[in-house]
Amino acid sequence: MDYKELIPNNVNLKENPKLLRALERWHPRFLEWWRDQGPVAHQENEIYLRTAVSVDSSGWAVYDYVRMPEYRWGIFLAPVKSERSIHFGDYIGDGCWEDVPGEHRNELKRLIVTQGDTEPGSVEQQRRLALSAPSNYDMRNLFQVNVEEARHLWAMVYLLHSYFGKDGRDEAEEMLERRSGDPDTPRLLSTFNDPIDDWLDFFCFATYTDRDGKYQLGSLAESAFTPLSRTTRFMLTEEAHHLFVGETGLARTIRRTAQLMKENESEDVRPYGGIPLDIIQRYINYWYSVSLDLFGNEDSSNAANYFAHGLKGRFNEANRKLYPDAAAREGNYHYTVFDEDRGQLMERDIPMRRAMNAILRDAYIEDCERAVARWNKILEQEDCRLRIQLPSVRFHREVGTFGRASFDPNGNLITKDEFEARRADFLPTRADREYVKSVQFLVTDPGKFANWISPPQHGIHGRPLDFEYVRL
Ligand SMILES: [Fe+2]
Ligand SMILES: [Fe+2]
Repeated sequence: MDYKELIPNNVNLKENPKLLRALERWHPRFLEWWRDQGPVAHQENEIYLRTAVSVDSSGWAVYDYVRMPEYRWGIFLAPVKSERSIHFGDYIGDGCWEDVPGEHRNELKRLIVTQGDTEPGSVEQQRRLALSAPSNYDMRNLFQVNVEEARHLWAMVYLLHSYFGKDGRDEAEEMLERRSGDPDTPRLLSTFNDPIDDWLDFFCFATYTDRDGKYQLGSLAESAFTPLSRTTRFMLTEEAHHLFVGETGLARTIRRTAQLMKENESEDVRPYGGIPLDIIQRYINYWYSVSLDLFGNEDSSNAANYFAHGLKGRFNEANRKLYPDAAAREGNYHYTVFDEDRGQLMERDIPMRRAMNAILRDAYIEDCERAVARWNKILEQEDCRLRIQLPSVRFHREVGTFGRASFDPNGNLITKDEFEARRADFLPTRADREYVKSVQFLVTDPGKFANWISPPQHGIHGRPLDFEYVRL
């Protein structure tokens, strides 16, 4: 196999024999992983997919039919406009790094491995969904997300192979050995070990967990380590599609539910094959709360170090209207904590740098609120008086200050017993999951859609809705 030709790239792979050798060894193992852990069906079918072929904003993608194992996973770094200098933390004004500084090697490796591990994790979580796709169009979108998450793994492996020597190669191997949900070798972050059993899970995951990805990648795109900044910047162009799939998937589900409610003058749409709004709400409650956990502790010395050392900034760090203090040495971040001794919520200030996780999380929450507002607009359009609610940041948390107590979705402190007594109101129950599964059967005829979801507004890349996105 001629890897120089096989791997679309703008990292001058031809002239980099060391990287080529590492990839030659890694690639067959990657393909083995993909065949074993990628989608359980349609690996040999032709899918209408976009492939990244360059980094020009006008022409970075081509759309064509490919079989997934033949997808050309590439390595792309977003272009740099000019000489970069460090724009936050302790080294403001110094030149950015083309190589890994020895004193920050371990921190950088940890950031890259943690990000990298999520990418194959999500592919493993989603591998069975093709069996219950609501349409040919949706099945194609699922596969698009899957191949791009695999490309994101490539992006992180490229950094490990190029800049971290033997350690990096070992880490790249281990990415292919861990398995989502495996009790002995799980993925590194808890949310990437949760099962994704149905399409409501998938749409919520793509809305909330991929959005966490957007914020993590955005903060790494600010990094003083230029190859990391450029790699993650390009990954963000693909991430936008994943968020689109999640948010519009939920929007279409919500629209269909509201239509069935109106047609039948009933909130219970189960007799008509729809998914009741309260079930949708419980799925949102679940995936939003476990995605919030991915931001880590609100008060974090690791996060302070990442910021001080110029490794990880805030989202849109360069926007000085948003963040007037580039060093974040002064001032405090005001936030609410649960005080265990007093057993109540308290207001507290922490030094700005220690609050970097909370600052990133709060930017994420605002973004999530915008998505909910768009769904509620749909409910209004369909004359439905019910609304979707984004639960409180305190609800159903494991990580951080709110993990130390129980809260209802409105953020009220309740006892653990009360939480358990009301769990079935808050979070998806086994019956919810069984019901959702019972209506989600496979639809593959182009232009046809399962009864529980409304069709999208447009096809992909200007193609009609009844286009054969997956050739069966
Ligand atoms: Fe990703
Ligand atoms: Fe993603």
